[in-house]
Amino acid sequence: MISRILLPTDFSEHSRKCFDYIIKLKDCGIEEVIIMHVVDLKIIRETDVIFDGEVDEEQVIERSIKQAEEKLKVFTEPLAENGLRISFLVKIGNPCSEIIRAADEMNVSMIVMGHRGHNLAEELLLGSNSEKVIRKSSKPVLLIK
Ligand SMILES: Nc1ncnc2c1ncn2[C@@H]1O[C@H](COP(=O)(O)OP(=O)(O)OP(=O)(O)O)[C@@H](O)[C@H]1O
Ligand SMILES: [Mg+2]
Repeated sequence: MISRILLPTDFSEHSRKCFDYIIKLKDCGIEEVIIMHVVDLKIIRETDVIFDGEVDEEQVIERSIKQAEEKLKVFTEPLAENGLRISFLVKIGNPCSEIIRAADEMNVSMIVMGHRGHNLAEELLLGSNSEKVIRKSSKPVLLIK
C-alpha cells in the first residue's frame, strides 16, 4: 500500500528524525524511498544581490547540486544500512513547489517530512515548506515532530 515514499530533506535534525519512522514503516510494504533535496534558488539569488551581481549563478547552481548529491549519500546511510531501496533526487527552485511536483510526477504513496527545518525561531509551529506542502499537495503527508 505504501510502496513509494518521498522524503524531502534540508539536512536538518528535524528531517533526520523521519528516518526512524521510515524504518518502522518498512514492514508496511515500502519498496522505495526517494530522498530529495531542493537547492533553493531564492537563496542563490539573494546571495547574488549581496555580492552586487558578481556571483556566477550557473556555477553556484552546478556546485550546489553536486554538493547536495554527495551530502545526500552520507546523510542517508542509516536508511541504506536498514536494507531499504533508496534513490536520490536533487532539484533547483522553490522547495515546496518542487516537492509537490516531484510527488505527483513520481506518483508517490506518501510524503514524509519534518514539521520544521533549520529555522530556529521557537514560536514557529510549522515551517513554511511543510505548511505549503500540506496545504497544496494532493498526496498524503506525514509530518514528523
Ligand atoms: N530545500 C529543501 N529541500 C528538501 N526538503 C526541504 C527543504 N527545505 C525544507 N524541507 C523539508 O521541509 C521540512 C520543514 O522545513 P521548513 O523549511 O518548512 O521549515 P524551517 O526551515 O524550520 O522554516 P522556514 O524555512 O519556513 O523558515 C524539513 O524538515 C524538510 O523535511
Ligand atoms: Mg526551511
